[in-house]
Amino acid sequence: MVKKNAGIIGIGAYLPDKILTNADLEKIVDTSDEWIVSRSGIRKRHVADANEATSDLAAHAALKAIQDAQLNPSDIDMVIVATITPDMMLPSTATRVQRKIKVTNACAFDIVAACSGFVYGLTIAKNFILNGTMKNVVVIGAEILTRYVDWNDRTTCVLFGDGAGAVVVSTVNTGRGLLGFHLGADGNTPMKWLMLPGSGSFNGSVSVAENRKNVITMDGKAIFKFGVSILPDIINRALERSHLTVNDIRLIIPHQANIRIIEAAAKRLGVGMNKFYVNLDQRANTSAASIPIAMFDARNEGKLQNGDAIVLGGFGGGLTWASIALVL
Ligand SMILES: CC(C)(COP(=O)(O)OP(=O)(O)OC[C@H]1O[C@@H](n2cnc3c(N)ncnc32)[C@H](O)[C@@H]1OP(=O)(O)O)[C@@H](O)C(=O)NCCC(=O)NCCS
Repeated sequence: MVKKNAGIIGIGAYLPDKILTNADLEKIVDTSDEWIVSRSGIRKRHVADANEATSDLAAHAALKAIQDAQLNPSDIDMVIVATITPDMMLPSTATRVQRKIKVTNACAFDIVAACSGFVYGLTIAKNFILNGTMKNVVVIGAEILTRYVDWNDRTTCVLFGDGAGAVVVSTVNTGRGLLGFHLGADGNTPMKWLMLPGSGSFNGSVSVAENRKNVITMDGKAIFKFGVSILPDIINRALERSHLTVNDIRLIIPHQANIRIIEAAAKRLGVGMNKFYVNLDQRANTSAASIPIAMFDARNEGKLQNGDAIVLGGFGGGLTWASIALVL
């Protein structure tokens, strides 16, 4: 009998048409292309149209992934959306996506694990497929972060962008599929390191427009230090749990936050930057969407093919972190 595993059989992404360059940002805040590129590596970001919601971006990406998997929406039995910028508190963004792409027979829910959310979602999909309760799970990372940045705060508004990426997880033969993973969180870290209070219950009756409740605030230096130490660590953990070494890996696809974090991780792992896929110069930080968009872009650029062993690594607010090794 052929043994089975859970694996990715389709990839899709969607980026809104509008592009905001560093030169455009120079007209909004006191910044320069030189500062943004040298401190972060970012050159441009996509920005959602005013009439687009996160579920619209997610629906486009999910449909592409389902087509790529050569399935129909009716074949999907679970829809997972990882996001920190949902359409609204209720209903979930996942149910909005379900409606938009006509996934008729499925359960649907959101997960909030910031920039680690997509990899958290992959591990949920893996377990449901392996225990036989689900056949085809679509895992989506989708964000409209530009709607939640303070356009007067030059330290944060230059870093984020919008977009969505999605994969379909199904049964595959062993030798392929999702391998070892590592998930973590530390709620003891100060919330002010990275937060977006929005309309959450923590705010009580305070208007979201007051006290900067509806924008992302961040301690850049604290998050930078966290990223530099956690990224190589989680890559190693996923490799160990998959009985692989970094030499077995074609590509590492990290969360696209800052080129200096990725360069520091490469140094600590003792590998060249060519092991890492980077698209943050074009996409900026799209939180939960960054890893699936990067997978989509890497494949389109011919850097990722079926049969390749890769590692995904996400880290972000919470704090949270998540990594997984897989063979595409
Ligand atoms: C945000 C980040 C790029 C800032 O880089 P940094 O080297 O720490 O820069 P600093 O915050 O020390 O700021 C240095 C100077 O640049 C200024 N500065 C900040 N943003 C600027 C901008 N966009 N343009 C020009 N100058 C800027 C600061 O005001 C400061 O000036 P000062 O020395 O006169 O006070 C960096 O900390 C970072 O990337 N952190 C991680 C953020 C992240 O990835 N978050 C998401 C994780 S999921």
